Amino acid sequence: MSTTVIILAAGKGTRMRSSLPKVLQPLAGRPLLGHVIDTAKHINAEKIITIYGHGGPLVQQAFAHAQIDWVEQAEQLGTGHAVQMTLPVLPQDGISLILSGDVPCIRAATLEKLLAAAQSTGIALVTLTLADATGYGRIVRKNGDIQAIVEHKDASDEQRQIQEINTGIYAVSNAKLHKWLPRLSNDNAQGEYYLTDIVAMALADGMQVASVEPEQAFEVDGVNDRVQLAALERQFQAAQAKALMQQGVHLIDPSRFDLRGNLKVGQDVCIDINVIIEGDCEIGDGVEIGAGCVIKNTKIAAGTKVQPYSIFDNALVGENTQIGPFARLRPGAQLAAEVHIGNFVEVKNTIVGFGSKANHFTYLGDAEVGAGSNIGAGTITCNYDGANKFKTIIGDNAFIGSNSSLVAPVQIGNGATVGAGSTITRDVAENSLAVERSKQFAKENYQRPQKLKK
Ligand code: UD1
Ligand code: CA
Repeated sequence: MSTTVIILAAGKGTRMRSSLPKVLQPLAGRPLLGHVIDTAKHINAEKIITIYGHGGPLVQQAFAHAQIDWVEQAEQLGTGHAVQMTLPVLPQDGISLILSGDVPCIRAATLEKLLAAAQSTGIALVTLTLADATGYGRIVRKNGDIQAIVEHKDASDEQRQIQEINTGIYAVSNAKLHKWLPRLSNDNAQGEYYLTDIVAMALADGMQVASVEPEQAFEVDGVNDRVQLAALERQFQAAQAKALMQQGVHLIDPSRFDLRGNLKVGQDVCIDINVIIEGDCEIGDGVEIGAGCVIKNTKIAAGTKVQPYSIFDNALVGENTQIGPFARLRPGAQLAAEVHIGNFVEVKNTIVGFGSKANHFTYLGDAEVGAGSNIGAGTITCNYDGANKFKTIIGDNAFIGSNSSLVAPVQIGNGATVGAGSTITRDVAENSLAVERSKQFAKENYQRPQKLKK
């Protein structure tokens, strides 16, 4: 049977106190709604309908390429009213999964269970038992069978003792939604059209209401304010960290690790504390990442050792390289195997060949460095004239003396040597020495200016 996913995302999220619509607030670097849409795609939904209201254009822009349908709920008159808005585009048959844009961690496996339950009954809910159920809709059962959902504000004292709550996630027959939704009324404590009233309608139709529980409680946690957002972030991160450890990653402290994206890992990868990994990254066998590194959209091949506080952004790092501490690899940095990039070295749009080293205080931008070359401390490729970028090409086995400026466009041949402190503006031939500096001036018995004694 075909599945439609309906995502409620019209709420304002006043308690976030933010100019950003709530469903665009980030969890693990991605908008809340993005998590829900990705999960919906995982379960092969035929159609994903998102109900928007507050911040509509911003929300739509953020998901312009997501291939989802949008339905507007101009006024937020309740969850039932929200789903009513989908009726003109809701298929007549099949089942709809109803999700919330601010409940980002629901797992596909839980939704599959929910769908399976709804296949036989026509309606199923995700419920959870909480120690403190204050505020939630309560699941009223009789002899174990679900009789109703009663909102906290409408509940009697006795019903408020119920600890089983409605998580706001449902699977319902589309035919029934077409039948029931037009009949909802707002005759209740909040004057809202409650989606939860469909439970009573199902019973009136002689149906049974099925329920399933999530494997982990945080799957159904909603985000209403920044305190809840931060708490959910930690739970989400803990779950990701656990999955990585189960794949064999040695996380020195899983509570001080953040993955905001996707990470593919080899065996025996060791990650020290306070590392942040963003976007799509790959880390090969035996790689060690020191404390405080930030790694974004980067591949690091096997055997590489990264010392603390190194930053990677769209870089490609070969096998058995040594990076950092305090190295910065910017977009287009490509390091071959066994390269060394040391402290305070910045590499941008530059290819560094096998075994070459730039160990201290260097800028390599728009450059190519061959194999086996040594770039001395303080070397700068002067790649920019204020308007244009130019290339510096350094051959194999070259030696660039400390504190040299290489003014691009310029080429340093294979085996060439540049003397320390040179400003190189013309090409340097293979195996030659180039030195550009004035002769050392000397004066004997030189007396420095003295401070006057008072
Ligand atoms: C709802 C349920 C309650 C459940 C709780 C779980 C109803 C009547 N009650 O409560 O049983 O325990 O969720 O969190 O459904 N939204 C719209 N348009 C609206 C109203 C809400 O899009 O007009 C969206 C919100 O943005 C949110 C979701 O629906 O994503 C749930 O709304 P919220 O107000 O948080 O739910 P409650 O009414 O508190
Ligand atoms: Ca409400």
